[in-house]
Amino acid sequence: MGQPRLPARRGLGGCVLVLLLLLGGSGSPGTTPPPRPPWAEEQGPDPEGTPWGTVRYEAVKKHLGAVGALSKQYWQYLACKVWQEGCEEGEKQREREGETGPILSWGFPLIGRDYLEILSSWYCSFGKCCETGDCRIINNITGLAADLSGQLHGQHLAKEVVVQAVQGFLQSPQPQKALVLSFHGWSGTGKNFVARMVANHLYRDGLKSDCVRVFVSLLHFPHHNYVDSYKVQLQRQISETLQRCGQPLLIFDEAEKLHSSLLDAIRPVLAQDDSKGQVDQQRPIFLFLSNLGGNTINEVALDFWRADRAREEISLELLEQRLRQELQDNAHSHLLRENLIDFVVPFLPLEYQHVKLCARDAFLARGLPYTEATLDKVAQMMVFVPKEEKLFSAQGCKSVSQRINYFLP
Ligand SMILES: *[C@@H]1O[C@H](CO)[C@@H](O)[C@H](O)[C@H]1NC(C)=O
Repeated sequence: MGQPRLPARRGLGGCVLVLLLLLGGSGSPGTTPPPRPPWAEEQGPDPEGTPWGTVRYEAVKKHLGAVGALSKQYWQYLACKVWQEGCEEGEKQREREGETGPILSWGFPLIGRDYLEILSSWYCSFGKCCETGDCRIINNITGLAADLSGQLHGQHLAKEVVVQAVQGFLQSPQPQKALVLSFHGWSGTGKNFVARMVANHLYRDGLKSDCVRVFVSLLHFPHHNYVDSYKVQLQRQISETLQRCGQPLLIFDEAEKLHSSLLDAIRPVLAQDDSKGQVDQQRPIFLFLSNLGGNTINEVALDFWRADRAREEISLELLEQRLRQELQDNAHSHLLRENLIDFVVPFLPLEYQHVKLCARDAFLARGLPYTEATLDKVAQMMVFVPKEEKLFSAQGCKSVSQRINYFLP
C-alpha cells in the first residue's frame, strides 16, 4: 500500500470549490453586478449600457482566473500546513521566483490568510484534527444493538453476531486483521438493512460517509469482458478508502456475483496484518452480502419448524457448519478456507409474523395509523413457501414498505 496521500488530493477539489464559493459570494462593489431580477431573463443592456450576461461572465472569469492562479500555491501551502506535505516544493518554488517573503505574499495576501483559516477549519470539520480523533466516526454500538433489537425481525443470530463482532473488533487494542463478515440468506431477510444500520451507527454520515464504500456486483461490475479494468478500478477504490479513513467500511452487495478475479483483488487487504510496524492503525471492516447458502439456511429453519422446535433454538454452530459445507464449491470458499472470513452471519427466512412487524415499522416510519387487520392484509400480499406449509415469505420483507401504499387510509 502506498503512502496515505489521498486526503490531500481530495482536499484540493474541496478547497477550490470552497474558494469558488467564497470568491463568488464576496464580490466587492464594481466587480460583481447586483443580483439579477428573475424577470430579466432575456433583457438587453442594463442602464449603464453593459449587457448583463457580459458583466456576469467577466466577473466569473475573473474569479475563476484568480482561483486558478491561486490554487496551486495555496494548495501547497495548505498541504504543508495541514498535512505537512509538499512543503519542500513550496520552498523550491519560492527560491526560483526569488521571493524571500512568506508564502502568503503570493496572490491575495490578506484575503488568502482568511481563506486559509476557513479552509483549515472546513477540513477540520470532517477531518482528523478533531479532538475526538476523527469526527466522521461515531461508533455508536449501544445504538446499533438497540436498533437491531427493535427493528430487525426474526434474526436472532444476525443480531447477536453482528453486534458482538463489531464491538469486539472496535474495542480490540490491536486488531490482527480486517474484520470480515459474510452475510448469507434469501433476499428480503435484512442483509442490506443490517449493513445500512452498521454504517449509520458507526459513521456520522452513514452510507454517504467517505469512510464507507458500497459495491454492488451487477451495478459496478456488470460486464465480464471488462473484469481486468474493474479489478484495477476496485483496487484503486479500496486503497483510496483505506488511505482516507482509519476505520473504513467496505460493503460488497450481491457478493455471489463477484468475479473471482475481483475477489483476488480484495484478498490481500482482507489478509493484511496491520499490527506490525504501521504508524496508522487501520481498522477496515468488510461486509459481504450474498444469497449463497440461502437454501441451506431455509432447509434448517424448515426442519426445526417440522420438528416443532422454536427457530430461536437454531444455533450459529449448526448453520455455520452447513454453510461452510455448501460454500465449498464457490469462489467464496477460498476466503473461507484461508480463514479470511471471521464470521458467517446467517439470515433466516421470514415468517408471516415477521412480515407483519415489517409492515408495522413501515407505517410507524411514515407516521401513519394502522390496525392489525391492515398489517394482515399487507402480509397476505406476500407469497409464502413451500407450497404445502406456506411458512416463509419468498421475498422476506422486501418491498413491504411500498406495499403499505395500498392500504393507506
Ligand atoms: C446512538 O444510537 C441511538 C439509537 O439510534 C440514538 O438514540 C443515540 O442518540 C445515538 N447516540 C449517539 C451518541 O449518537
